[in-house]
Amino acid sequence: MTLNIVERQYPTTRLRRNRKSEFTRNLVRENTLTVDDLIYPVFILEGENRQEEIPSMPGQYRYSIDLLVEKAKQWHELGINLIVLFPVVESNKTILAEEAYNENGLVQKAIRALKANIPSLGVMTDVALDPYTTHGQDGIIDDNGYVLNDITVQVLTKQALSHAKAGADIISPSDMMDGRIKAIRDILEANNFVNVQIIAYSAKYASAFYGPFRDAVGSTGNLKGGNKFSYQMDPANLNEALHEVAMDISEGADMVMIKPGLPYLDVCRKVKDTFAVPTFAYHVSGEYAMLKAAGLQGWIDYKKCVLEAMMCFKRAGCDGILTYCAPEVAQWLKNK
Ligand code: PBG
Repeated sequence: MTLNIVERQYPTTRLRRNRKSEFTRNLVRENTLTVDDLIYPVFILEGENRQEEIPSMPGQYRYSIDLLVEKAKQWHELGINLIVLFPVVESNKTILAEEAYNENGLVQKAIRALKANIPSLGVMTDVALDPYTTHGQDGIIDDNGYVLNDITVQVLTKQALSHAKAGADIISPSDMMDGRIKAIRDILEANNFVNVQIIAYSAKYASAFYGPFRDAVGSTGNLKGGNKFSYQMDPANLNEALHEVAMDISEGADMVMIKPGLPYLDVCRKVKDTFAVPTFAYHVSGEYAMLKAAGLQGWIDYKKCVLEAMMCFKRAGCDGILTYCAPEVAQWLKNK
């Protein structure tokens, strides 16, 4: 059937024109994903020559420091320039979390080893007490199990200072106590660590998507079905996230983070539009586990879904993404 071109109705704007071939799709693409956008979270263990796969996160491992250094060289060669350390503390958990600021603790030793062997690799640390407490909460609790804010902040400042002394480039408080950014900034300044950056987990929600992470660091059992609702945010709230971000910036954060990632892209966009500061999202363990599991089952195309998810973080205004997919994504981008 031929249509009479003069008589037929046609759309004046054909958005499909710009999509008709690869060169024009590339030309009008609004966002790009590069390896510079990736931050890789890794789990570390005491001892030597240890590598354990995390059952609920296939493809992710806990490494002892010697193997971490070897692996980190490979990640860095792929172009990854920043990793975050999460310790698996197998002993020395206490009610007051003293191990968190042990100068010879696992994280502190790992920072020194990484900095000595791979000076150009950025090292970021998590500031929170959950790996170190017997009960798996992020802070010091009272007799009712309530996490006490100001006492916890004092311990967090000691933890942050010990990370800075060991050579950490970026400190990232993930504990959600009030006032901790100012307290950490003050102690860093007072000790002449004026260039240590702070990425604040400003909008950290009380999310069920952290499940596999808690398995990975071994805090699930300690938490015993407890929750973190009295300090992490309610997933129903958006305005509160803006309030948190405003506070953290005013207290001295250099960058802010939203966590989890994909279900919270509206928060990312709103934060970026409101504050115009470097904004990061944490594509968390449960998000990784979902993609990985479905990919392994052959139910989704893992690579395409991951690359799409990464691009969506960029579209939502994120400057970068903390993701367990980082080495895979880096490899795919390199092969392209
Ligand atoms: C601990 C911390 C958690 C994560 C990062 N830091 C877990 C929690 O708050 O219970 C979760 C990361 C992930 O799920 O990948 N303060």
